[in-house]
Amino acid sequence: MSSDLIFLEISQDLQSAKDDQRLYNPINFETRVRAIDFIDFHIINRIDIIHQNSTPNPDFTRIRRSAEELKEQLEAINRALFAHLRETIKSKKLYPSELNELLISHLDNAYNREADQPGYDYLDELINGILCESTLPEPTIVREPEMVFYQQTPARIIFKLAEMLQVDEVLYDLGSGLGHVPILINLLNGNKTVGVEFEPAYHRYAVGKATQLKLNDVLFINEDARKVDYTNGTVFYLYTPFEGNILQEVLDKLKQESFQKPIRIFTYGPCSFQLAKQSWLICSDTKVKDIYKLYEFRSYRDHRKFIEVTPKGRYF
Ligand SMILES: C[S@@+](CC[C@H](N)C(=O)[O-])C[C@H]1O[C@@H](n2cnc3c(N)ncnc32)[C@H](O)[C@@H]1O
Repeated sequence: MSSDLIFLEISQDLQSAKDDQRLYNPINFETRVRAIDFIDFHIINRIDIIHQNSTPNPDFTRIRRSAEELKEQLEAINRALFAHLRETIKSKKLYPSELNELLISHLDNAYNREADQPGYDYLDELINGILCESTLPEPTIVREPEMVFYQQTPARIIFKLAEMLQVDEVLYDLGSGLGHVPILINLLNGNKTVGVEFEPAYHRYAVGKATQLKLNDVLFINEDARKVDYTNGTVFYLYTPFEGNILQEVLDKLKQESFQKPIRIFTYGPCSFQLAKQSWLICSDTKVKDIYKLYEFRSYRDHRKFIEVTPKGRYF
């Protein structure tokens, strides 16, 4: 393609982005993020590649500057939107279900909350914008080999988890990282939540966020999950925070809790397979086979009299 034709194509792309009025309305978050990505990859990067291979062309330089300005304008709308949503949360004027709907209304109509696909999506971008405006902390202590590094649960999975909880249940997130699960579950469903995190820098960040949002029913404990007292916990969430012996040790501790009261454990990621092997737990699915699915396990209430479990997890 000749340089004139490329220039024409890029100019038209930029003009149609500028003319798209939907992009300036804060509610259209997903549309705007898609447009920012388009400007980055199809306009700015494209011009950079052209300039790497030839002498910089003043027309391309000018249009690149204009694309940068539009991108900055759209990003500023997003920053204002995040600040507005943070204020809405702090004001406590919305019921959890209203907040849930408000957040989802910023995504395109086709947004599928039920998808068990891998990876993050625009809901994560929105939630990260609201919850992660400051620089993310670096870990400060060395993990044991079986402890898993921080990776956040995709937001659609947290929304799904919120829908599966009764409001009077106390949820523990074991290995809570930056605190998204306890914070979002409290916001979306009103549950009391507790995050247990081994890394002090993540713990401090999570406490700061909950304090900033004035969330009184969200508690964070900076401790190894093997050492925490779970007496008041009824629901536990694990996004594979640890593996092998550590996971087994924590599960044995939860099993002790289940002697006192029925408990539920929700899992995401590879740890689901180890839970499926616990004879005192029943999985709500017939078989655990997908690491990108949220699984629910229930304690077998009277498991001291428990006789046998089939490979499918059904009891006789
Ligand atoms: C995969 S991340 C999950 C983060 C968070 N639960 C989420 O879903 O967004 C695992 C987290 O567990 C923490 N962790 C690992 N071993 C731990 C332990 N023994 N006790 C408490 N936290 C631990 C890690 O520091 C990390 O933040």
